[in-house]
Amino acid sequence: MEVAPQDVKRFIDETRQFSEYDFEGYSLKSFTRRLEKILTDNSMAMDSLLKKMQKNSKFLEYVVKEITVNTTEPFRTPSIWNKLVPIMKEKFEKLDTINIWHAGCSTGQEVYSMLILLYELGLFHKVKVYGTDLNEDVLETARAAKYRMHDFEEYWENFDKVMSQFPDFDKHKYLDVNSRRGVVKVKSYIAEKPIFAKHNLIKDGNIFGFKFDLIMCRNVLIYFDHELQDKIFKFFYETITPDGVLVIGKHESILSPIQRKFNRIDSIYLKKTEEDVWNF
Ligand SMILES: C[S@@+](CC[C@H](N)C(=O)[O-])C[C@H]1O[C@@H](n2cnc3c(N)ncnc32)[C@H](O)[C@@H]1O
Repeated sequence: MEVAPQDVKRFIDETRQFSEYDFEGYSLKSFTRRLEKILTDNSMAMDSLLKKMQKNSKFLEYVVKEITVNTTEPFRTPSIWNKLVPIMKEKFEKLDTINIWHAGCSTGQEVYSMLILLYELGLFHKVKVYGTDLNEDVLETARAAKYRMHDFEEYWENFDKVMSQFPDFDKHKYLDVNSRRGVVKVKSYIAEKPIFAKHNLIKDGNIFGFKFDLIMCRNVLIYFDHELQDKIFKFFYETITPDGVLVIGKHESILSPIQRKFNRIDSIYLKKTEEDVWNF
C-alpha cells in the first residue's frame, strides 16, 4: 500500500493530537516504508488505522513498535566494545560512581552486555545504569531479562570477540542457558542492576537531573532527519560530564558543528575539555 508524503504528515499530526507520540523529524524514507508495511499487514487504509490507534491503546503501542525499528543484539559491533574498554578503564577507575545511560535500549541486550563487561573490569559495584526507550513493550522484555535462545546463540561470537581479553571469562557466571526450553536468562544479580524507564528522546530531555559519564545511543538517531539529529547531539553534549563519552551507531556520525567539541574514535565521541576546544 503506497503512502504519500502528505499521508505521513497527516499520520504524524493526528498521532500527536491524540497520543503522547510525536514523530516529527523522523526520516521520511524509512518512516514511509514502515507505515506502508503496517497498512499492508493490517489490510487497512490510513483513516481506519488512525481511528483504531485513537480508540485502542494496545493497537497504538503496536503501531509505535512497528514504526520504530527494535533490532538489537548482545555486544553489537564488537570492535566498538573493544575500543571502549581501555577508555572505560582510564576514565572510570578513578570515579566513585559511574552513571551510564543507554538511550533507545530496545530489549536490553546492550545494557546487559555493558554490565557483564563492567563486572569483568571490576567496576560493577560502583555503576548506575539506566536503559530507556520510547516503547513500553521492549522495556518489558528488557526488565524480564529473558531471551529466546536463538536471539543469543546467534551472537556467542560477539561475546568471544569482546570477552576473550578476559582469560577467565565464563558466560555461565552471568547467564542461565536452558537449552531444553530454548531460553537464556540473565542472572538476577546482573538483571536487578539497571533501571529501565520509558523516555522519548525527542521531547523528554534530561529526566534524571544529573549528568552521565557515558551515554550509549546506538542505531537510534539513524531514523531521525539531520535537524533532529543535531538537536539530540547538542542535548547529549550537555548531558554528559566534562570528561564524558558518547557512543553512537557504526553508521551514524555527528555532522553539525558540535562535533568539534569531541575527539572521535570511530563512533566513540570523547568530550573535549574547554582547553582542548580553545586549542583547536
Ligand atoms: C534499532 S534499536 C537500537 C537498540 C540498541 N541501541 C542497539 O544499538 O542495539 C532503536 C531503538 O530506538 C527506540 N527509539 C526510537 N525512537 C525513539 C525516541 N524518540 N525516543 C527513545 N527511543 C526511541 C526504538 O523504540 C528502538 O527500540
